[in-house]
Amino acid sequence: MKITNLGTRDYASFYVACELYKQMSQQCHSKLGLATGGTMIEVYKFLVDLLKKNKLDVSQIETFNLDEYVGLDANHGQSYHTYMNNVLFKRYPHFNLSLLHVPNGNAVDLDEETKRYEYLINQQGPVDIQILGIGENGHIGFNEPGTDVNSATHIVNLTESTINANSRYFENEAEVPKQAISMGLSTILKAQRIILLAFGEKKREAIEKLAENEVNSEVPATILHAHPNVEIYVDDDAAPRLK
Ligand code: PGA
Repeated sequence: MKITNLGTRDYASFYVACELYKQMSQQCHSKLGLATGGTMIEVYKFLVDLLKKNKLDVSQIETFNLDEYVGLDANHGQSYHTYMNNVLFKRYPHFNLSLLHVPNGNAVDLDEETKRYEYLINQQGPVDIQILGIGENGHIGFNEPGTDVNSATHIVNLTESTINANSRYFENEAEVPKQAISMGLSTILKAQRIILLAFGEKKREAIEKLAENEVNSEVPATILHAHPNVEIYVDDDAAPRLK
């Protein structure tokens, strides 16, 4: 696993957008594992620019999002369905909607939904490129500290740290859902290639723990050491301090 400081958020986001674009243009049936959150906003902005400039045919591209809040309607302003529509799917409206998958956090039977989603990824996968952000507490997807390394798609009780970090997107902290449905750590590791991005000082501690080079279940992202094809790109502020 290599951690590369690309200097700025812009440079790193553009680089990752180019990698996604390249994958999609070289293989029209590509499967992409997509992430949400503040970190990814610029990646999608650059990706939409590239798709528009080159009028890429994306009708056979299949996408799988990492996670979704439990209890939010897909149309809720803060659902990850809405996020994806706003940053990518509506801005480049040439995707085949039946190939865009986000877990349904509003399913009547959530347990059944976790099984359906995991089965879908296993059946349609493997994912060619999975992009990931990282939580301040080291989570990937919504796999909070202590998550079983063998976990499949599952329901997560969000930690105080995550609820607090995500409250910036809601009117107040009380409105942040307390649960989410997330690909598990074993689901994420099935991707062929994984690219993790981290920006800003708040992410530095998590990146420093990743740099320590050992798997530690209290920092779920460290499970990535068990994957042979992981790249990590950071900006100056998230770059690990040299010892
Ligand atoms: P952020 O979230 O991009 O909004 O910082 C990343 C994450 O929690 O995985």
